Amino acid sequence: MPTGQGETTTPAGVTIVDHPLVEHKLTLLRSLATPTGDFRRLAREISLLMGYEVLRDLPLQPVDIQTPMEPMIARQVLGKKLCFISILRAGDGILGGMIDLVPSARIGHIGLYRDPVSHEPIEYYFKVPEDMAERLTIVVDPMLATGHSAAAAITRLKRAGAAAIKFVCLIAAPEGVAVLRTAHPDVPIFTAALDRELDEHAYIRPGLGDAGDRLFGTK
Ligand code: URA
Repeated sequence: MPTGQGETTTPAGVTIVDHPLVEHKLTLLRSLATPTGDFRRLAREISLLMGYEVLRDLPLQPVDIQTPMEPMIARQVLGKKLCFISILRAGDGILGGMIDLVPSARIGHIGLYRDPVSHEPIEYYFKVPEDMAERLTIVVDPMLATGHSAAAAITRLKRAGAAAIKFVCLIAAPEGVAVLRTAHPDVPIFTAALDRELDEHAYIRPGLGDAGDRLFGTK
Protein backbone atom coordinates (compact mmCIF):
# COMPACT_ATOMS: atom_id res chain seq x y z
CA MET A 1 0.00 0.00 0.00
CA PRO A 2 1.53 3.39 -0.93
CA THR A 3 2.29 5.44 2.19
CA GLY A 4 -0.20 8.24 2.74
CA GLN A 5 -2.75 6.98 0.25
CA GLY A 6 -5.84 4.78 0.28
CA GLU A 7 -5.57 1.05 0.07
CA THR A 8 -4.09 -0.28 -3.17
CA THR A 9 -2.37 -3.47 -4.16
CA THR A 10 1.38 -3.74 -4.61
CA PRO A 11 2.20 -3.49 -8.35
CA ALA A 12 3.37 -6.63 -10.15
CA GLY A 13 7.09 -7.20 -9.89
CA VAL A 14 7.44 -5.12 -6.73
CA THR A 15 8.31 -6.61 -3.34
CA ILE A 16 7.84 -4.39 -0.32
CA VAL A 17 10.20 -5.66 2.36
CA ASP A 18 7.86 -4.91 5.24
CA HIS A 19 9.76 -6.35 8.19
CA PRO A 20 9.00 -4.34 11.39
CA LEU A 21 12.68 -3.50 11.87
CA VAL A 22 12.91 -2.20 8.32
CA GLU A 23 9.83 -0.03 8.83
CA HIS A 24 11.10 1.23 12.21
CA LYS A 25 14.48 2.19 10.80
CA LEU A 26 12.88 3.76 7.74
CA THR A 27 10.73 5.94 9.99
CA LEU A 28 13.90 7.18 11.71
CA LEU A 29 15.53 7.69 8.32
CA ARG A 30 12.63 9.76 7.04
CA SER A 31 12.61 12.05 10.09
CA LEU A 32 14.11 15.49 9.59
CA ALA A 33 15.42 15.21 13.16
CA THR A 34 17.81 12.38 12.23
CA PRO A 35 21.39 13.67 11.93
CA THR A 36 23.84 12.65 9.18
CA GLY A 37 25.74 9.98 11.11
CA ASP A 38 22.57 8.23 12.21
CA PHE A 39 21.10 8.55 8.72
CA ARG A 40 24.15 6.84 7.22
CA ARG A 41 24.10 4.03 9.77
CA LEU A 42 20.36 3.46 9.36
CA ALA A 43 20.59 3.34 5.55
CA ARG A 44 23.29 0.71 5.84
CA GLU A 45 21.31 -1.30 8.39
CA ILE A 46 18.13 -1.23 6.28
CA SER A 47 20.02 -2.34 3.20
CA LEU A 48 21.49 -5.24 5.12
CA LEU A 49 18.04 -6.30 6.27
CA MET A 50 16.67 -5.91 2.74
CA GLY A 51 19.60 -7.80 1.29
CA TYR A 52 18.52 -10.79 3.34
CA GLU A 53 15.22 -10.82 1.40
CA VAL A 54 16.63 -9.79 -1.99
CA LEU A 55 19.24 -12.55 -1.90
CA ARG A 56 16.85 -15.23 -0.69
CA ASP A 57 17.20 -17.25 -3.92
CA LEU A 58 21.00 -17.04 -4.20
CA PRO A 59 22.42 -20.22 -5.68
CA LEU A 60 24.50 -22.40 -3.38
CA GLN A 61 27.31 -24.74 -4.32
CA PRO A 62 28.64 -27.75 -2.42
CA VAL A 63 32.06 -27.51 -0.77
CA ASP A 64 34.11 -30.06 1.12
CA ILE A 65 34.90 -28.87 4.63
CA GLN A 66 36.19 -30.39 7.81
CA THR A 67 34.26 -29.68 11.01
CA PRO A 68 36.05 -30.34 14.34
CA MET A 69 34.13 -33.63 14.32
CA GLU A 70 34.34 -34.97 10.76
CA PRO A 71 34.52 -34.10 7.06
CA MET A 72 31.29 -33.00 5.41
CA ILE A 73 29.93 -31.57 2.21
CA ALA A 74 28.28 -28.26 3.06
CA ARG A 75 26.90 -25.55 0.78
CA GLN A 76 28.06 -22.00 0.29
CA VAL A 77 27.14 -18.93 -1.73
CA LEU A 78 29.04 -18.22 -4.92
CA GLY A 79 29.94 -14.67 -3.92
CA LYS A 80 32.10 -14.17 -6.99
CA LYS A 81 29.04 -14.71 -9.18
CA LEU A 82 27.27 -11.76 -7.64
CA CYS A 83 27.65 -8.13 -8.57
CA PHE A 84 26.34 -5.09 -6.71
CA ILE A 85 25.97 -1.97 -8.81
CA SER A 86 25.69 1.36 -7.06
CA ILE A 87 24.06 4.24 -8.88
CA LEU A 88 26.19 7.16 -7.71
CA ARG A 89 26.26 8.79 -5.43
CA ALA A 90 23.37 7.89 -3.15
CA GLY A 91 23.62 4.20 -4.10
CA ASP A 92 26.82 4.04 -2.07
CA GLY A 93 24.73 4.66 1.05
CA ILE A 94 23.01 1.29 0.69
CA LEU A 95 25.92 -0.59 -0.84
CA GLY A 96 27.72 -1.21 2.46
CA GLY A 97 24.94 -3.29 3.96
CA MET A 98 24.90 -5.53 0.90
CA ILE A 99 28.68 -5.95 0.97
CA ASP A 100 28.47 -6.83 4.66
CA LEU A 101 26.25 -9.75 3.63
CA VAL A 102 28.39 -10.96 0.71
CA PRO A 103 31.94 -9.61 1.15
CA SER A 104 33.29 -11.42 -1.93
CA ALA A 105 30.73 -9.93 -4.33
CA ARG A 106 32.05 -7.80 -7.15
CA ILE A 107 31.13 -4.11 -7.19
CA GLY A 108 30.35 -1.75 -10.04
CA HIS A 109 29.44 1.94 -10.21
CA ILE A 110 27.34 3.95 -12.59
CA GLY A 111 27.37 7.73 -12.45
CA LEU A 112 24.26 9.43 -13.75
CA TYR A 113 23.09 12.92 -13.05
CA ARG A 114 19.63 14.20 -13.52
CA ASP A 115 19.31 17.08 -15.97
CA PRO A 116 17.72 19.81 -13.83
CA VAL A 117 15.25 20.80 -16.53
CA SER A 118 14.31 17.57 -18.35
CA HIS A 119 15.06 15.29 -15.35
CA GLU A 120 16.59 12.91 -17.92
CA PRO A 121 19.66 10.88 -16.80
CA ILE A 122 23.07 11.68 -18.31
CA GLU A 123 25.91 9.15 -17.82
CA TYR A 124 29.28 10.43 -16.56
CA TYR A 125 30.84 7.24 -15.11
CA PHE A 126 30.61 3.52 -15.82
CA LYS A 127 32.85 0.85 -14.30
CA VAL A 128 31.61 -2.70 -13.87
CA PRO A 129 33.18 -6.20 -13.88
CA GLU A 130 33.92 -7.57 -17.35
CA ASP A 131 31.93 -10.79 -17.06
CA MET A 132 28.53 -9.30 -16.30
CA ALA A 133 26.75 -11.99 -18.31
CA GLU A 134 27.72 -14.59 -15.71
CA ARG A 135 26.60 -12.66 -12.65
CA LEU A 136 23.43 -11.99 -10.75
CA THR A 137 23.36 -8.20 -10.73
CA ILE A 138 21.82 -6.21 -7.88
CA VAL A 139 21.40 -2.52 -8.70
CA VAL A 140 21.07 -0.24 -5.67
CA ASP A 141 19.78 3.33 -5.42
CA PRO A 142 17.87 4.50 -2.32
CA MET A 143 15.20 6.53 -4.14
CA LEU A 144 13.21 5.28 -7.13
CA ALA A 145 11.71 8.65 -8.09
CA THR A 146 11.08 9.25 -11.83
CA GLY A 147 12.61 5.87 -12.61
CA HIS A 148 14.58 7.35 -15.52
CA SER A 149 18.02 6.92 -13.89
CA ALA A 150 17.28 3.36 -12.84
CA ALA A 151 15.93 2.47 -16.27
CA ALA A 152 18.94 4.07 -18.01
CA ALA A 153 21.38 2.32 -15.66
CA ILE A 154 19.77 -1.05 -16.31
CA THR A 155 19.71 -0.47 -20.08
CA ARG A 156 23.45 0.29 -19.88
CA LEU A 157 24.10 -2.81 -17.75
CA LYS A 158 22.24 -5.01 -20.22
CA ARG A 159 24.40 -3.54 -22.99
CA ALA A 160 27.41 -4.61 -20.89
CA GLY A 161 26.04 -8.15 -20.80
CA ALA A 162 24.02 -8.27 -17.57
CA ALA A 163 21.04 -10.58 -17.92
CA ALA A 164 19.79 -11.41 -14.41
CA ILE A 165 19.12 -8.12 -12.66
CA LYS A 166 17.29 -7.02 -9.50
CA PHE A 167 16.72 -3.43 -8.40
CA VAL A 168 16.80 -2.41 -4.72
CA CYS A 169 15.72 0.91 -3.24
CA LEU A 170 14.53 2.21 0.11
CA ILE A 171 11.60 4.29 -1.12
CA ALA A 172 9.80 4.05 -4.46
CA ALA A 173 7.30 6.41 -6.05
CA PRO A 174 4.46 4.88 -8.10
CA GLU A 175 5.67 6.90 -11.10
CA GLY A 176 9.16 5.43 -10.86
CA VAL A 177 7.84 1.91 -10.48
CA ALA A 178 5.71 2.34 -13.63
CA VAL A 179 8.64 3.71 -15.67
CA LEU A 180 11.08 1.03 -14.54
CA ARG A 181 8.63 -1.86 -14.92
CA THR A 182 7.64 -0.65 -18.41
CA ALA A 183 11.28 -0.28 -19.52
CA HIS A 184 12.47 -3.50 -17.86
CA PRO A 185 9.61 -5.86 -17.00
CA ASP A 186 12.18 -8.61 -16.35
CA VAL A 187 13.73 -6.69 -13.43
CA PRO A 188 12.04 -7.19 -10.05
CA ILE A 189 11.97 -4.21 -7.69
CA PHE A 190 12.58 -4.52 -3.94
CA THR A 191 11.71 -1.54 -1.79
CA ALA A 192 11.14 -0.81 1.89
CA ALA A 193 8.22 1.51 1.08
CA LEU A 194 6.03 2.60 -1.79
CA ASP A 195 5.24 6.27 -1.21
CA ARG A 196 2.35 8.45 -2.41
CA GLU A 197 3.72 10.46 -5.34
CA LEU A 198 6.37 12.65 -6.91
CA ASP A 199 6.16 16.40 -6.50
CA GLU A 200 6.78 18.98 -9.22
CA HIS A 201 10.54 18.83 -8.52
CA ALA A 202 10.59 15.03 -8.92
CA TYR A 203 11.04 14.49 -5.19
CA ILE A 204 9.19 11.66 -3.51
CA ARG A 205 6.37 12.59 -1.08
CA PRO A 206 6.40 12.01 1.84
CA GLY A 207 9.87 10.58 1.11
CA LEU A 208 12.95 11.50 3.09
CA GLY A 209 14.29 14.48 1.17
CA ASP A 210 17.50 14.30 -0.84
CA ALA A 211 19.09 10.96 0.03
CA GLY A 212 22.56 11.95 -1.24
CA ASP A 213 22.65 15.18 0.72
CA ARG A 214 21.41 13.49 3.87
CA LEU A 215 23.90 10.61 3.51
CA PHE A 216 26.90 12.79 2.91
CA GLY A 217 25.88 15.89 4.88
CA THR A 218 26.17 18.15 1.87
CA LYS A 219 23.21 20.35 2.72
N1 URA B 1 16.21 11.64 -5.10
C1 URA B 1 16.22 11.86 -3.77
O1 URA B 1 17.27 11.83 -3.14
N2 URA B 1 15.06 12.10 -3.15
C2 URA B 1 13.88 12.12 -3.81
O2 URA B 1 12.85 12.33 -3.18
C3 URA B 1 13.89 11.89 -5.20
C4 URA B 1 15.07 11.65 -5.82
